[in-house]
Amino acid sequence: MENLNSTPLPPELAAETALRRTFAIISHPDAGKTTLTEKLLLYSGMVRTAGMVRARKGGKSTSSDWMAMEQERGISITASAMQFPYKTATINLLDTPGHQDFSEDTYRTLTAADSAVMVIDAGKGVEAQTRKLFAVCRLRNIPILTFINKLDLNSRDFFDLLHEVEQVLGIHASPLNWPVGSGKTFSGVADVVSGQVAMFSRGELGGAQRALMHSRPLAELHLEQGIDTELVHKVRDDLDLLAGAGNPFDRRSFLEGQVTPVFFGSALTNFGVEPFFDRFVELAPAPRAVKADKADGGEITVSPTEVPFSGFVFKIQANMNPRHRDSMAFLRVCSGVFERDMVVRHHRLGKEVRLSRSYSVMAQDRNTVDRAYPGDIVGVINPGVFAIGDTLSLDSSFNFKPMPQFPPEVIGQIRPIDVMRRKSFDKGLLQLCDEGAVQMLRSYDIPDNPPYVAAVGKLQFDVLQYRLRAEYNVETQLELLPHQFSAWLEGDPKTVKKPRGAMMTLDSRGRVVVLFSSEWEKNYLLEQNPQHRLTDFLK
Ligand code: G4P
Repeated sequence: MENLNSTPLPPELAAETALRRTFAIISHPDAGKTTLTEKLLLYSGMVRTAGMVRARKGGKSTSSDWMAMEQERGISITASAMQFPYKTATINLLDTPGHQDFSEDTYRTLTAADSAVMVIDAGKGVEAQTRKLFAVCRLRNIPILTFINKLDLNSRDFFDLLHEVEQVLGIHASPLNWPVGSGKTFSGVADVVSGQVAMFSRGELGGAQRALMHSRPLAELHLEQGIDTELVHKVRDDLDLLAGAGNPFDRRSFLEGQVTPVFFGSALTNFGVEPFFDRFVELAPAPRAVKADKADGGEITVSPTEVPFSGFVFKIQANMNPRHRDSMAFLRVCSGVFERDMVVRHHRLGKEVRLSRSYSVMAQDRNTVDRAYPGDIVGVINPGVFAIGDTLSLDSSFNFKPMPQFPPEVIGQIRPIDVMRRKSFDKGLLQLCDEGAVQMLRSYDIPDNPPYVAAVGKLQFDVLQYRLRAEYNVETQLELLPHQFSAWLEGDPKTVKKPRGAMMTLDSRGRVVVLFSSEWEKNYLLEQNPQHRLTDFLK
């Protein structure tokens, strides 16, 4: 391979890579993602009292809450990536946006993860947002661990929950531990394989500090104070049933995304949290080889420990900190060692760039990163040269797979209310499009017409308008178009016969996107143009 830098790979590379666990937590809002994140920080020793992340979070779920949260700016910055040690592992936790709307941002974040933890509310089971996020993980075959949360409240039947995970999500569920009681009686989790039961009681400050834990063999469960015979029988019967009819856990099937190990617990009270984290670091994969396209055609697999530095940009964020009004590109290291000040090949632009200002970002503090390993996330200042999906490396012979894009479902036209703010408006819109918050589309027939903005969910428009106001001081007016479906067109756009309501536009890469007001219009176009095709999801 042709290298910009022929320095040999450092000896610690393999060991450092093996320690990394880079993952995201996915859940329907309110299932407990934030609480579990906080407990991970508590158990890793990063915070002494849980409650800080929540306090910053302020609100969630609705767009107005999201804005309040954004105003504070804390969470979205923390949100990008957090690195901390947990026992012997080095954790890189990526945050997926906590709002209701599915956004491409979530998908892109998941492209940087090696595994995901799916949090499910034991009282509610699999909810809508979990389904979507899960589908996204499946697209990439990301291994998923399931944490069934809120066992301290009334829970649905445990077997029903497992059945629902399997039915709704189409994956085998293999419980690795089993709850002792639920609601008021929830007091421990039994390891399905070893038969050891971890029993919990609340620490001094309740869930704000670690729960007290002791371990006991299942055969001695009846000796525990406060555990009645009925409960002991239930746990034993359940475990017998599982041993007979459950899916035995197989790590390989887990790594291939075919089976999810299931854990039970209560993030709020910390019951079951530590056994889960311990198994998580054991089971979740370290950074693995990534497929890439060779510059001269064909595919290669980029090994994290055998190829000099490479990485890709999965997120761009402007104006992260009012004190540093600049744009930052988030880079996932895929192979080799990242070193501050290194000169790398920027594949899309076909030139070399120096990565001199590199940071790890946690809360509002930026810490300079001098060295990073596969699985790590590095923030680099973006002087307008990076775009989402860009490959950077010391080796110029490959390009990571392009980021998939989802067809927009809401389309609008946006303009500044005060025409004097036009320049700031144009700058803001361009930067926010670079971030991938929304896409910009131009009319195919009259490219000079004002551009359209398009997104997968309406919330993205609220965010766009909010940020144009907050960061660029521009009030805007947005008019929604009736189009709710879109697809990329394959085939000659000049010869296409399209229904009256459909509109042809061009995306930022010059590809034709057709906008439709109804499914009927889409089907009509396909029927009338057998030589053309419509793609919903671009890989
Ligand atoms: P999210 O990030 O997935 O949206 O969920 P989050 O952790 O914010 O949790 C949503 C609500 O559920 C919070 O209550 C939180 O305290 C509660 N919760 C999380 N895990 C558990 C659990 O294991 N058991 C119980 N009983 N509750 C849990 P809230 O009332 O919205 O907020 P707060 O007043 O507690 O801060």
